[in-house]
Amino acid sequence: MDRRLGRILISRDEIAARVAELGQAISRDYAGRAPLLVGVLKGAVVFTADLMRAIALPSAMDFMSVSSYGSGTRSSGVVRLTADLSISIEGRDVIIVEDVVDSGRTISYLRRNLATRHPRSLALCVLLDKTSRREVDVDVDYVGFVIPDEFVVGYGLDFDGWHRNLADIAVLEPATS
Ligand code: PRP
Repeated sequence: MDRRLGRILISRDEIAARVAELGQAISRDYAGRAPLLVGVLKGAVVFTADLMRAIALPSAMDFMSVSSYGSGTRSSGVVRLTADLSISIEGRDVIIVEDVVDSGRTISYLRRNLATRHPRSLALCVLLDKTSRREVDVDVDYVGFVIPDEFVVGYGLDFDGWHRNLADIAVLEPATS
């Protein structure tokens, strides 16, 4: 289906303000420690980069890549690891950084996977939470925005690889509407 960019759901200024708040919360909660941010490719790249600069602590980052089979506006529910971390997380304070939680399947898989590697602690920071779409229970420690069940792009989020570079988060609508 052809799609076009619709209204802005969350502006770049709103994103920047919320990312700053999340960074402050993490800086408070992890005082005296050096968190390792694990960004989930590809959608979380933009968020991870901004969040890291909002954290006033020694911190490090690494990335993992997971994907759901197929493309389009809905994930299939089948999660596979397509690129692993480059470092050990044993004994580290790990914060998984995601752009969006939808069904919860991806983050549930990642939490289980990373927990087996014996981090000192494991937390989850998500920019967008589509709570109404949840199929699997997940504990989210830091949430940027709870959003309705609309397909959104921008600030790292894509449609078939496009629109990740938008500074705002916008709704993608059918071209005919
Ligand atoms: C998106 C998002 C999460 C996942 C959330 O990734 O980044 O990883 O879907 O959906 P779930 O809660 O239903 O599992 P996507 O597969 O679009 O890949 P991308 O990050 O490379 O865009």
